[in-house]
Amino acid sequence: MPNDLTTILEAIWAGLVTGAQDARHPFHTPVVATARMGDCDARVVVLRRATPDHRELAFHTDARAPKVPLLQACHTTAWVFYDPAGKVQIRAKGETAVHRDDAVAAQAWARTKLMSRRCYLAELAPSTPVDEPTSGLPAAFIERSPTAPESEPGFANFAVCVTTVTRLEWLKLAARGHQRAAFVWDADASRWQGSWLTP
Ligand SMILES: Cc1cc2nc3c(=O)[nH]c(=O)nc-3n(C[C@H](O)[C@H](O)[C@H](O)COP(=O)(O)O)c2cc1C
Repeated sequence: MPNDLTTILEAIWAGLVTGAQDARHPFHTPVVATARMGDCDARVVVLRRATPDHRELAFHTDARAPKVPLLQACHTTAWVFYDPAGKVQIRAKGETAVHRDDAVAAQAWARTKLMSRRCYLAELAPSTPVDEPTSGLPAAFIERSPTAPESEPGFANFAVCVTTVTRLEWLKLAARGHQRAAFVWDADASRWQGSWLTP
């Protein structure tokens, strides 16, 4: 069990970076929660990027999805990750910027597989009520991926949601007693301030 805060902070970001890169890592599919006007919502997403130097976590979504106005309206977005093998929970909080039709979106779109771009070609926006079960995908792309030119109209519906993290929490479960630490971004000092918490 690590017992110094600097090592824990480094391990948190290293785990998040691995989680973004490795689809088999449990940190690859965190839960992202939003709140607005006394209501809240949470959903699983794919962690697409973790950038320690900028304190950023990013996922992709359909710009027409209901979560987009929620992300834009709420001051903080919460992310929760759990690694059952390491018995580590990470919680992250921060403000989220939604990038659509800008340089950040274009850079992420360029790295997106054609198969993944299919989702952004759906005619109906996510959460549209329908009479029958449907994937919403255009018929042409149910059995195959779009070609690069065919995928391009999807860019208009593509959004990159980037949270700039201001608080991190680490919880390590152990038979002899759990441990918990919190890290708050000190903007004046441009550094993380770590502290221990009771679990
Ligand atoms: C494993 C898994 C990964 C998912 N990844 C994403 C994702 O990266 N982006 C996304 O918008 N939705 C993703 N979803 C779907 C969301 O959980 C959610 O159902 C959908 O986005 C609608 O959310 P909303 O109504 O809050 O907009 C994923 C679901 C699962 C089960």
